[in-house]
Amino acid sequence: MNVLLVGGGGREAALAWRLSLSPLLTALWTTHVNPGFPENAKRLPDGPVALRAAEAGIDLVVIGPEGPLADGLVDACEARGMLAFGPSALAAELEASKGFAKDLMQRHGIPTAAYSLHTTRDAAHEAIAGPCVVKADGLAAGKGVYVCQSAASAHEAVDALFDGAFGAAGAAVVIEELMEGPEISVLALCDGERFVCLPPAQDHKRRFDGDKGPNTGGMGAYAPAPVPPGFMAELSTQVIEPVLQGMAAEGRVFRGVLYVGVMLTANGLRVLEFNCRFGDPECQPLLMLLDEDLLPILVQCAQGQLTQTTLAMRQGASCCVVMASEGYPGTVEKGHPIRGLDKQVEGVVVFQSGTLCRPDGVVVNNGGRVLGVTAHGKSFKEARERAYSAIDGIYWEGADWRTDIGWRAIKEG
Ligand code: AMP
Ligand code: GLY
Repeated sequence: MNVLLVGGGGREAALAWRLSLSPLLTALWTTHVNPGFPENAKRLPDGPVALRAAEAGIDLVVIGPEGPLADGLVDACEARGMLAFGPSALAAELEASKGFAKDLMQRHGIPTAAYSLHTTRDAAHEAIAGPCVVKADGLAAGKGVYVCQSAASAHEAVDALFDGAFGAAGAAVVIEELMEGPEISVLALCDGERFVCLPPAQDHKRRFDGDKGPNTGGMGAYAPAPVPPGFMAELSTQVIEPVLQGMAAEGRVFRGVLYVGVMLTANGLRVLEFNCRFGDPECQPLLMLLDEDLLPILVQCAQGQLTQTTLAMRQGASCCVVMASEGYPGTVEKGHPIRGLDKQVEGVVVFQSGTLCRPDGVVVNNGGRVLGVTAHGKSFKEARERAYSAIDGIYWEGADWRTDIGWRAIKEG
């Protein structure tokens, strides 16, 4: 098969690595340059992606990021007769509009935080009664959420959103009950009706050790994450099944990755958010754990004919530590040469995200999240030790990372 991978970050580096292992693959094509992509990957010529993909004879288009999904790339590829893994624009609303997602959950009795949705600044201010969470309705690269411990900070957040901190994404604002508890990400591969889940993963969204500092796209993740007994069954019946049925009944058949972010509260599980794509960095440890060919599963989902009910996973655990540039999630200094990328550590793969290969062949940092140092081990402890020992061998000026990825797994043994 000729497969086109859309996107150029750490998630796509992990997908490229995984897809390249498939005996069904003829050639991997990419829309983006990533120095960590396999050397034999072919670059799709610039231009409208669906058109260029059809011209290149692509059989399956795999879309990493949410932007092209929300913009209808799956619809455009299908209109040209290609298979595409991911939801249509209508189905991608589940991530592209938090208001839509909350309303859908309410219509179908899916457990989530109490909320209200506002399109005017005054109404949003009036809805604030104390600590709460203020969210931009639209896509904001994981940054449009303010967890406010006081009414005063919630009022500030509402003003920031209506003042355009995230442009049109903040034209509508969700105000939610502030909940507490550990967070779990579950990624289900869906064919519109049936689904199969990857093991529960845990992301570390806050920038600094001890879960302090601002929210980021994710500073590290591991899997399997500890969950209460019966959690996966409960999530399937209370969340994933009603979402897939509800979306289909509303004319928005959902194919692709349904990413469910949940909080384990004292009152049971509550959905925080849906994403309509692989999580980044969760994708990196999850694909390292997967013990079978990913390509036929993506094809079956895209065709609406998923036959598998379970996924083969390797024993043990995997852990991804994100190496970021100093200053992330704010502005960062780019262009520092990265040393040690060629060092091999047993069980470790380094996925590149914010990197650039200079004309002289030197790879430099070129963004906030730079590397996803991802390890497998027979235990979580071993996976984590391997990831951190690989990090010891990598250096660039201003490199920074969290030293406590997986602290909860260690605490809970
Ligand atoms: P979201 O993009 O909606 O998942 O929000 C990003 C992060 O904000 C989540 O991963 C949580 O850490 C936090 N968050 C979102 N909603 C709530 C909530 N209702 N209560 C507490 N924390 C939340
Ligand atoms: N790591 C969180 C996300 O991909 O949205």
